[in-house]
Amino acid sequence: MRITVIGTGYLGAVHAAGMAELGHDVLGVDVDADKIESLSRGHAPFFEPGFPELLRNNIAAGRLKFSTSLKEAAEFGDVHFICVGTPQRPGSTAADMKYVDAVIEGLVPNLNRASLIVGKSTVPVGTAARLSTMVAGLAPVGAKVEVAWNPEFLREGFAVNDTLHPDRLVVGVTSAEADDTLREVYRTILEAGTPYISTDVATAELVKVSANAFLATKISFINAISEICEAVGADIMPLAAALGHDARIGNRFLSPGLGFGGGCLPKDIRAFLARAEELGIEESLTFLRNVDSINVNRRQRAVNLARDMLGGSLENKRIAVLGAAFKPNSDDVRDSPALCVANALQSQGANVRVHDPEAVENARASYPGLNYTTEVDKAFEGAQLTVHLTEWQEYRQLDLAHLSTLVTSPCILDARNTLDIDHWRAAGWTVRAMGRPTR
Ligand code: UGA
Repeated sequence: MRITVIGTGYLGAVHAAGMAELGHDVLGVDVDADKIESLSRGHAPFFEPGFPELLRNNIAAGRLKFSTSLKEAAEFGDVHFICVGTPQRPGSTAADMKYVDAVIEGLVPNLNRASLIVGKSTVPVGTAARLSTMVAGLAPVGAKVEVAWNPEFLREGFAVNDTLHPDRLVVGVTSAEADDTLREVYRTILEAGTPYISTDVATAELVKVSANAFLATKISFINAISEICEAVGADIMPLAAALGHDARIGNRFLSPGLGFGGGCLPKDIRAFLARAEELGIEESLTFLRNVDSINVNRRQRAVNLARDMLGGSLENKRIAVLGAAFKPNSDDVRDSPALCVANALQSQGANVRVHDPEAVENARASYPGLNYTTEVDKAFEGAQLTVHLTEWQEYRQLDLAHLSTLVTSPCILDARNTLDIDHWRAAGWTVRAMGRPTR
């Protein structure tokens, strides 16, 4: 099939390469000429394990090309996926739909045959219906253009696998033809037995935001219990493990620590709440306000713990910060809890040096006032406190005897609860961990 993928960020670029891998002819489109130039040369503009190979193989096979032109997209494709961002609107908690709308305005007037537009971006419920009305006003006479919704559930860091082997496919359609087209797009994946849920467009839109709201709630739930543990000297780690053994609860997304960040969960729960307010039914979702505040409070709690460990003041203290990305295996720093904490420490007088294996460049662009390094030893040099804020695997394999010779004071705050704290203590370090008793 001839497919376009419009918006080649973390989601769209992987989707474009994934569709080519399934055997389709794909054109990836973006307004960012630098990004398109980089992708065309087979260079991934962001860190995503497995993506560079997928990109290069499919370019070499002649199935994947890139362009900045929506006119070219209209001529090229029969199915057009919209993968542009829906960030938080400035000065509001609602989603900003300007990029989605701009795609419709730029693409639809150029369509000259029957086409299916498939939204993948996370949007307020009702968007597909609104876009259908826009499309009806913009489509040239004779071009039958339909809007469907096919939410994306991929996780950064696992995006290639999640695209090629998703745990489910959800499509919202308004006709049997659209359903048939999407079944054909995903034929290989469906043949592997992947569950396929075909429903109306509003339900498909809601599946996505509900899934992210549930995941965020699960994380904030365990972090709320973590706060109780801190107050009474109980230990959140065995508690979470014990809960997770109940198959109805499950242990995934039940890792206590610094909470969630990234370009999706935080803004999606806020936008969901904003949409519920618009619909006059905000009471059903008020709990998401608590989910958000529990999450944001974890960052403040980490700063407070760091200050305590430094004897009550951050002024002129050298702090080694481990991690800048919002999670490991990503260079994405959007709403990164790690950077938020690093910045708060610095603005309260500390002198932080932030290490991250992949995200330093993006971090520097967002927080130019912090010091960065890609050499982990450099972060530790002279540190009076180390704070572990993003749980990269390499931080679990550090040579503690060697680090002890670099720091001024062997003290660490594990805000992600992934370090072997007994091992650190045995190596002579003072350790605090969020939700865990002090010893
Ligand atoms: C999330 C969802 O997991 C995807 O299913 C969804 O497609 C995506 O948003 C999206 O809407 O595009 P992602 O933002 O890549 O994916 O990251 P997650 O792996 O979900 O992690 C989100 C945040 O939660 C991270 O900051 C992570 O550190 C944190 N987290 C995760 C916890 O604090 N505890 C946990 O137990 C799990």
